[in-house]
Amino acid sequence: MERRTERIHERGVSATVLVCTNERTEHAACAAVDGGAVADAVRDWLRERDRYWSEVAVAETSCLGMCSEDGVAVVVQPDDEWFAEVTVEDVPALMGETVGAAADAAATEPATTG
Ligand code: FES
Repeated sequence: MERRTERIHERGVSATVLVCTNERTEHAACAAVDGGAVADAVRDWLRERDRYWSEVAVAETSCLGMCSEDGVAVVVQPDDEWFAEVTVEDVPALMGETVGAAADAAATEPATTG
């Protein structure tokens, strides 16, 4: 095991957006309600600002415990913001409210990684 906290902080990562894309058949699951499309919309929102894999990281996850037939579970850390029933249409507002200020402020600077 290698602790990489310092390296990640040096890279400037200040937020991580977790998008559930869990797939299963027995109960409601985010994969069945466009989890992949929501994850793509989050990445697209960052790409449009040239901030993909910059200070805002994105990760697809397994179940976050907010399963619903009406949308996808999303968590933004370290601010500890939890969203259920997120749709692709909700992503711009969600991103703007959570990581928007940091991403827009940093958009005037070159991204640290590709
Ligand atoms: S399957 Fe996505 S929160 Fe449970």
